[in-house]
Order: sequence, then structure tokens, then C-alpha cells
Amino acid sequence: MFPRWAVTVLVALRTLTVPRRWGGTMAAERAMSSAQPPTTASLPCRRLGVVQGFPAWQNEVIFCGNREAQDHVVFFPGDVQDYIENMEAHRDNKNWKQWNLEAVAELLSRRFPRSFIWVIKPSHMHLKTFSCYNFLVCNTMGTPEYGDEPRYPNALLYLRLLLNNAARQVSSELQQQVEGQDSCPADQNSCQDERLLSLPITFVGFSKGCIVLNEILFELQEAKPIPELQEFLARVKTMYWLDGGHQGGSNTWVTNEATLRNFAELQVDVHVHVTPYQVNDAMRAWIGKEERLFVKRLKKVGVNVTETRHFENEPRSLENHFKVLTAF
Ligand SMILES: *[C@@H]1O[C@H](CO)[C@@H](O)[C@H](O)[C@H]1NC(C)=O
Repeated sequence: MFPRWAVTVLVALRTLTVPRRWGGTMAAERAMSSAQPPTTASLPCRRLGVVQGFPAWQNEVIFCGNREAQDHVVFFPGDVQDYIENMEAHRDNKNWKQWNLEAVAELLSRRFPRSFIWVIKPSHMHLKTFSCYNFLVCNTMGTPEYGDEPRYPNALLYLRLLLNNAARQVSSELQQQVEGQDSCPADQNSCQDERLLSLPITFVGFSKGCIVLNEILFELQEAKPIPELQEFLARVKTMYWLDGGHQGGSNTWVTNEATLRNFAELQVDVHVHVTPYQVNDAMRAWIGKEERLFVKRLKKVGVNVTETRHFENEPRSLENHFKVLTAF
């Protein structure tokens, strides 16, 4: 399709764009890592592409990590966040392109250097802006269309499959990094699969992405009789709610006491980080109220929870909302 010289130029151009996209330090780290033995090399974050969950449901996933990782960090982004080329092509969202999905994956891999990072890309973006996950029941703006009633654990069943399939996708590659003495012998791919599928899990929701974490809570009751979900949920050790918010009129934070009591049984450590952008929004005053109730009721039912208010003395801004991703 292209003459050979054009291909060479294209490849050169792609290489040149790397420092701009990933930042100078990442480029330098990558240059260094290629000179090191594979056991200590940190793999750059990259798009895994489409990962299948249920036969008709799938999500694109971004992955970072090397085989020394000891747990999984699963991140659900908010509105606006997309691949950088989509953000650059959008009139408004280009202003926030530094928070593109791969850049956030890089941030997370620095924040959690001993973890596998999985960024779950929303299945579609209404008006290229409002994220929606196909495993949640949401309207076109991606707002949850349900209340705080317990419900069948569709999202949990789906996420378990998605994460297992994503892990299997990278495990053979991790297996190739194995050298000498290792918990998994070099010729046993299934061992690496099993190791990955048993590691602890941290869920991180940011902004609109927090609706996935909320959904998990509403599904816990009906997940109780399902053995594979109990096994999956037992691996969840920590959950981060980062400045949760959506366009709906309530249930931005979970306040239902029965739901929170179910959650307490899991003994998950919870970290809440908020900024004035959401919790001081006078037009959506319920967000701040619900957030305070969420934390208060979690404490009441015995959940180990921390709450951090960032940029409290600064005016509300979308910029500080995004910056919670570097501050938490
Ligand atoms: C509570 O969570 C913190 C992490 O934020 C952890 O270090 C601590 O051990 C936990 N405490 C209990 C009692 O589980």
C-alpha cells in the first residue's frame, strides 16, 4: 500500500511521537528497560484491544505490568477520558487530553509499581464524551437507570470473566519473562494463568467510573449463593472511590444501609478521595450529602474507611477534579 520509504518515515514518526505522548521520563525508562534483563524490565502500558466477557459483551482494556506484580489494580475511568487520538480530535475534550486512558494507566503503574494495571475502557461514549458500560443499565448519558435495590449480579459475573480473560491474554507473555527459579516452571502456562487468577484485586473508580463500584455493592446480596463470585469477591481487598459523580439526580454515592452491611462482610479497605468539583457543587448538592453519609455509614457498619478532601481551599475546578488522579 505504501512505498518502502514511506513506511520507514511512518515508523520514524511513530517513534518520535512517543516522548510527547508518554512523557520524557517514560521514554527514558523504556530505553533503559530494553537494556536490562527481562525479569526486571517494566513493560510499558499498552492497549490489549478488545477483551471478551459474555459472548455479546466486551470491553477494550489497557494493561501495564510485569511478572513481578503481586496484585491487580482495576481502574474504571470517567466521562471524557478516551484514547488520546479521540480526545485530540474533539473540540472540548482535547483540553483534557493529558488524562487520556494510557496516560492514566501510566500514572497508576507509578502509583502501584508492584501491581498489574487494567484500565477498562467504557463500551461507548455518547457524543464522544459520556461514558457508558454495556454491563450496567444506563441511559444515553451513561447515568444509572436504577435505584438502590439489590439486583442480579450481571456486572460482577461479567467483570470476573473479563478480568480472567484479560489475564489469560497476557499470561503467556509473562511466562516468557520467567527465568531460572520461579514459582511457575517455564513450560507451564496454566500455572501462570492460575497465579494471575488468584492474586488480590483493588478496584479504583474515578468520577463517573464510580458507578461500577456502586453497582458491585448493589449486587452483593444476590451474589451470595454463587460460588465463583464468592471466590472472586474474596480476592477484592481494597476499593478507591475517586471524586464520584454522574448526571443523575441521586445515588451518586451508596447510602442504603442494608447494602452497606452486605459490603462490610467482605472486609474491604475503602479509600474515598473527593474534591470541591463534585462535593461542593451547589447545583448538585446531594452529591456532597450522599458522600458524607456513605463514609459515616461505612464507619457505622465497621468498614475500614479513610476519607481525604483534596484542594479544599481552592475554587471548584475540573482541573482539580482530574488532579485527584495524581493526588490520591
Ligand atoms: C485499615 O486500612 C489500612 C489501609 O488503609 C490498613 O493499613 C489497616 O491495616 C486496616 N485496618 C484494619 C483493622 O483492617
